[in-house]
Amino acid sequence: MGKTILVTGGAGFIGNCFCKLILKERPDWKVVNVDCMTYAANPSTIKNEMNDPRYVFYREDIRRRDGIFAIFEKERPGIVVNFAAESHVDRSIENPGVFLETNILGTQVVMDACRMYGVERFHQVGTDEVYGDLPLDRPDLFFREDTPIRTSSPYSTSKAAADLLALAYHRTYGLPVTVSRCSNNYGPYQFPEKLIPLMINNATHDKPLPVYGEGLNVRDWLYVEDHCRGILSVLEKGKVGEVYNLGGHNEKSNIEIVKIILKELGKPESLITFVADRKGHDQRYAIDPSKAMADLGWQPTTMFKDGIRLTIAWYRENADWLDECTSGEYRNYYDKMYGKRSDK
Ligand SMILES: NC(=O)c1ccc[n+]([C@@H]2O[C@H](COP(=O)([O-])OP(=O)(O)OC[C@H]3O[C@@H](n4cnc5c(N)ncnc54)[C@H](O)[C@@H]3O)[C@@H](O)[C@H]2O)c1
Repeated sequence: MGKTILVTGGAGFIGNCFCKLILKERPDWKVVNVDCMTYAANPSTIKNEMNDPRYVFYREDIRRRDGIFAIFEKERPGIVVNFAAESHVDRSIENPGVFLETNILGTQVVMDACRMYGVERFHQVGTDEVYGDLPLDRPDLFFREDTPIRTSSPYSTSKAAADLLALAYHRTYGLPVTVSRCSNNYGPYQFPEKLIPLMINNATHDKPLPVYGEGLNVRDWLYVEDHCRGILSVLEKGKVGEVYNLGGHNEKSNIEIVKIILKELGKPESLITFVADRKGHDQRYAIDPSKAMADLGWQPTTMFKDGIRLTIAWYRENADWLDECTSGEYRNYYDKMYGKRSDK
């Protein structure tokens, strides 16, 4: 057996893709998935891995120091990748507290365990939202790793704090830390409160597609497996203490995305409903990924036109998964937020 990699949040959208990638492409690695299964995690997402002898799952909360330390004591991971987070901007506007607890204090707990048990690498999964936003009329501007942190929402602020804390643990305690900051992801298993699965789900059921403002906000979309390969490249080729931006130069406005989905599904644009804009809504995100491309040899391989087809096909073929997500707590949330909507 080679390395043991501990992944937090591995039942979520990106974390599960990462676990599956490691199991498939690093046959001598063991994957330890630690996830407390919030509303954003569906047990079906990880059911196939449960039978793999190289995979172990712990239902644990990264805010619970005793529980996290006990897992480290037992598993002794060499590498730790921290995906676990509250990840939905709209929810952070409604209730910031849990974002600060999980995204900042939970990250601290995981890093304290990393220090105590002497891991070779702690990787913090970050977001381009920490850079704030760019104006719509300056397509020449991009987020670089040295772009100042300038957050807009409680979510992005909690993520920025976690990144900075991770870099501080490197500088102060010598913890071998890397940080990646990625643009908007899309692909299978994304919880349907986020733009693309929400629109696919509503369009499939001929429900209105609520679009914030005029739908002109621009996001830089990356297929989830490309993101996961980027993180793996940072683990294997990245330099400790460094930040790497991951993005695909694939900017699209929200309204463009919605129209692409409607066209793919053969549904009319009359389903689009414009609704009051999100508070503090960022205008444009655009990553400059040249450092990761040059230093790691990483680059995205899935073109948006292919990725979106794969994604739509996956949601159509996995209607049960979507139904499981959209029952129970989701319904309460959806009822409350209906008339609003989200793009990340
Ligand atoms: N989705 C994107 O477009 C995107 C882009 C850039 C960065 N990111 C970052 O990537 C990471 C994963 O995002 P995602 O979209 O997969 O999120 P997600 O909401 O789909 O998944 C988060 C997972 O973390 C788990 N979790 C939450 N709180 C926890 C806690 N206290 N203890 C243990 N587990 C907990 C949840 O149960 C869930 O399985 C996050 O850190 C997010 O900030 C996401």
